[in-house]
Amino acid sequence: MTETVGIDRMGFYTPDMYLEMTDLALARGEDPAKYHVGIGQDKQAVIPPTQDVVTMAANAAAQILTPADKAAVKMVLFGTESGIDNSKATAVYLAHLLDLPADTRAVEIKQACYGATAGLQLAADYVRARPTAKVLVIGADIARYGLHTAGEVTQGGGAVAMLVTAQPRMLALEPVSAYHTADVMDFWRPLGRTEALVDGRYSTNVYLDFFKTVWTAYQAQTQRTIADFAALTFHIPFTKMGLKALRQVLPEATPDQQVRLQAAFEASQLDNRNVGNLYTGSLYLSILSLLRHGHLQAGDRIGCYSYGSGAEGEFYSAIVQPTFRQGFDDERLTALLANRHAVSVAEYEALFTQRLDLSGRDVQLPIGEVSAQYYLAGRHQQQRL
Ligand code: HMG
Repeated sequence: MTETVGIDRMGFYTPDMYLEMTDLALARGEDPAKYHVGIGQDKQAVIPPTQDVVTMAANAAAQILTPADKAAVKMVLFGTESGIDNSKATAVYLAHLLDLPADTRAVEIKQACYGATAGLQLAADYVRARPTAKVLVIGADIARYGLHTAGEVTQGGGAVAMLVTAQPRMLALEPVSAYHTADVMDFWRPLGRTEALVDGRYSTNVYLDFFKTVWTAYQAQTQRTIADFAALTFHIPFTKMGLKALRQVLPEATPDQQVRLQAAFEASQLDNRNVGNLYTGSLYLSILSLLRHGHLQAGDRIGCYSYGSGAEGEFYSAIVQPTFRQGFDDERLTALLANRHAVSVAEYEALFTQRLDLSGRDVQLPIGEVSAQYYLAGRHQQQRL
């Protein structure tokens, strides 16, 4: 018998501060409606220098791992494009912080925003072959374009942690998916740069083209149609992007199905709208948002579109499990988002430039008011503290 394999639990972390998009719009001389409606973002996570992808991943993963899980985790697959070292994997730092056993494989996966999906699919194949093993998959990033850039409104950051197991509580991954790769220069970050370079409008077109390609390929493989889906979820660099993708396929649905898919999309973008782009974590925050705020039932099929610039696209599907609500701590996630405080544009701009730079010099970070369980204290002799 083929094992049911998928996402057993999910954790999410983003720091305790955010920037209001109305404030950013006014500071940049834009109409706030452009940011709230045209782009579809209300708040943007602001990442203090005391958080990087390793600490954010640890703060997300610590929410979901019991001592028994830690003993059973055989692999950590860390998807990120905000790596902190050209050689050593973020997953190795993370395994140490989480006190995982030494007989754990720990590696980092990079392909822009697609890295966590690669991790998830590799993890699922691994567990299908070894049903007692568990794999920790991370999507963690800090989305940075730079002050006064067109991409600034689409920044954000945070980490999603997923435990992949047999007989999962939340989502069973169907062992079928369609993927597509092409060498495209829509968004990239050359070595030595801390901000991405992007051909913004071109990137949105490539995202949509790839969606069309993998959606069509998935349907050809499975003979399924849009009627087979209770919800479609998307990589959400900004919520309007997901909406545009949804609108591409809505005409394939009946009016009733359209209403259902639109309502599900609304639920799936609520949390992303208040955090911003997480790069690798964005699709997974959106799935979590759908499970938290939507009206899904056991047996519902959700479609998942993952896109990473450069570019890689994948469409896969998952079945909602009867116990899905046991897989995340809804109250904790609501409190995490509600208890953040707003920073002014001036404070955000100061924090933007205070990250550990590429010089390698020693730095002691101000940790007096840090509330997170895991944080970065600075750098000494080219090593993080
Ligand atoms: P822009 O040029 O400032 O915005 O950049 P625009 O002029 O295209 O306007 C945006 C929308 O606001 C438009 O709506 C306007 O009509 C509307 P649309 O036509 O697209 O539906 N608008 C208004 N609406 C209401 N009231 C108003 C108003 N004014 C205008 N007053 C852009 C937008 C997204 C290009 C920019 O923010 C950017 O470059 N972002 C970064 C790139 C990005 O996020 N690309 C997404 C696809 S690629 C991807 O997802 C991968 C990625 O996550 C990275 C990775 O893989 O690692 C980015």
